[in-house]
Amino acid sequence: SRSINLAVIPGDGIGPEVVAQGLKVLRAVLPQDVKLETKEFDFGAKRYHATGETLTDADVDALKQHEAILLGAIGDPSVPSGVLERGFLLKLRFLFDHHVNLRPSRLLPGVATPLAGQPEIDFVVVREGTEGPYTGNGGTIRKGTPHEVATEVSVNTAFGVERVVRDAFARAQARPRKKLTLVHKNNVLAYAGHLWTDVFNRVAEEFPEVTTDYIHVDAATIYLVTDPARFDVIVTDNLFGDIITDLAAAVSGGIGVAASGNINPSREFPSMFEPVHGSAPDIAGQGKADPTATVLSVALLLRHLGYDAEAARIEDAVSADLGERGETPRTTDEIGDALAGRVAG
Ligand code: IPM
Ligand code: MN
Repeated sequence: SRSINLAVIPGDGIGPEVVAQGLKVLRAVLPQDVKLETKEFDFGAKRYHATGETLTDADVDALKQHEAILLGAIGDPSVPSGVLERGFLLKLRFLFDHHVNLRPSRLLPGVATPLAGQPEIDFVVVREGTEGPYTGNGGTIRKGTPHEVATEVSVNTAFGVERVVRDAFARAQARPRKKLTLVHKNNVLAYAGHLWTDVFNRVAEEFPEVTTDYIHVDAATIYLVTDPARFDVIVTDNLFGDIITDLAAAVSGGIGVAASGNINPSREFPSMFEPVHGSAPDIAGQGKADPTATVLSVALLLRHLGYDAEAARIEDAVSADLGERGETPRTTDEIGDALAGRVAG
């Protein structure tokens, strides 16, 4: 019989509320013969204040025992900016080699967009997750003086670029439109931009069915607003991907519905799935948080583990729920119940 061994990190703020709904929907969608084992971890602000630690070696070893991780949100204003980001989230992305940061954008029926009309939005950003300017490769001299010089080196390896570009081509190949856009800035970034472009063009020869396209990142922000329908799959570096996926979330229904996966495609280490939104401490504990982004992240998790039919059932349930929801605001729990009811059939 089949089983899923899942690490659960509810985290801070609204994290525990939305994760509870994600698990509820996961339990409802899984067939009887699939055994779900979950283990909860208490990482986040509370643990940091109590112990001064974000993620110990023992924590990392414990997480490694699982096939996947479901994360709510980590972060609290009481913790200095950057501590949990670097000490937890980025640390896990690097240690577990989450080089595919997958962020789909779909404008679902009945969902408001700030864009004019109701454009077709259905694309996925494959953001590189372990390189670029996120590696901490930099330094400063003459600190605090008017002559301080700070560098932040963007690290791009042929190996790292090729594996994420290949993953993006494979995803494009599997989609009906079969289109892949490289987003970079190769008119200015002479070295990294050219490495990305060369690798992209070389790998493209192995995917003759995929239509390819290149757009500078600044122009991409315009098209994401004026013509988002032109995108199918986008591949880009870590920092450009960070920025354009916030824009992508904003035009396609907001962070209430934006899901993401930090994926290690080889499954050598557990992949981690999380809503794009943060811990929203201002609304924590009030049952106001929308668990939809977490539920859609559970769908990404299921697809990663090979449960494609169950993932599709969740996505269909979310579409139907958003399309048919009434005017009255619902609680976190009510939305979770509605989605669990729909996936259960
Ligand atoms: C994200 C976040 C993180 C990032 C921060 C919290 C380090 O913005 O997941 O997009 O920049 O990757
Ligand atoms: Mn971000």
